[in-house]
Amino acid sequence: MNNRKNILSPSILAADFAKLGKEIEETNRGGAEYLHFDVMDGVFVPSISFGMPVLQSVRKITNQVLDVHLMITEPERYVEEFARCGADIITVHFETLKYPEKVLKQIRDLGVKVGLSVNPETSIHAVEPYLDMVDMVLVMTVRPGFGGQKYIDYCTDKVKYLRGIIDEKGYNVDIEVDGGINKTNLKMILEAGANVIVMGSAVFGENTYENTVQFNEILKA
Ligand code: DX5
Ligand code: ZN
Repeated sequence: MNNRKNILSPSILAADFAKLGKEIEETNRGGAEYLHFDVMDGVFVPSISFGMPVLQSVRKITNQVLDVHLMITEPERYVEEFARCGADIITVHFETLKYPEKVLKQIRDLGVKVGLSVNPETSIHAVEPYLDMVDMVLVMTVRPGFGGQKYIDYCTDKVKYLRGIIDEKGYNVDIEVDGGINKTNLKMILEAGANVIVMGSAVFGENTYENTVQFNEILKA
């Protein structure tokens, strides 16, 4: 299809937290290189999820790349601690940043990878000035806040547009998509140009291992 590296990032928001270690081990064994970690503050998004102590525990049990998605206001107050707790990638939302350059640089200086995210309603043009400061752009494909929502179709065009800009200008930037991705739309999203694929409810459940293997095969095809 192309020579980009496609990566699966299962979102543990959809895991059974009473057996989180086992669920993570199944995604690791199934070949998921990343693990997506959704932090929600009840302010930027309506719900509250989990934070540093959980990340610290997860760090101890896996070598997967910990892909931390901060759905929180004033992320600059917390990025240092998330890096200390084991994040490998820290993604902040454009909508939460007063001085984007400053926060992106702050993350870079912590020695972790830098991600910048946009909500479905936010124009993709918002990220263009920062493409030389980030490793990844996360294009939200649902309104952030909950797992298990339906993919918003118009977000596909944002991914296509961004892939065009990145390739044309030669940036080394991954495109991550997050929300409502499942086996019916996965190939379409890869073809649009995304290469880091978050999947929550489609991966976790009775067959976490088998689901991971199945989706990873599609990504690696
Ligand atoms: C939504 C989160 C997502 C969510 C994806 O706010 O950022 O990572 O867990 O879950 P699914 O794949 O179930 O839509
Ligand atoms: Zn997420």
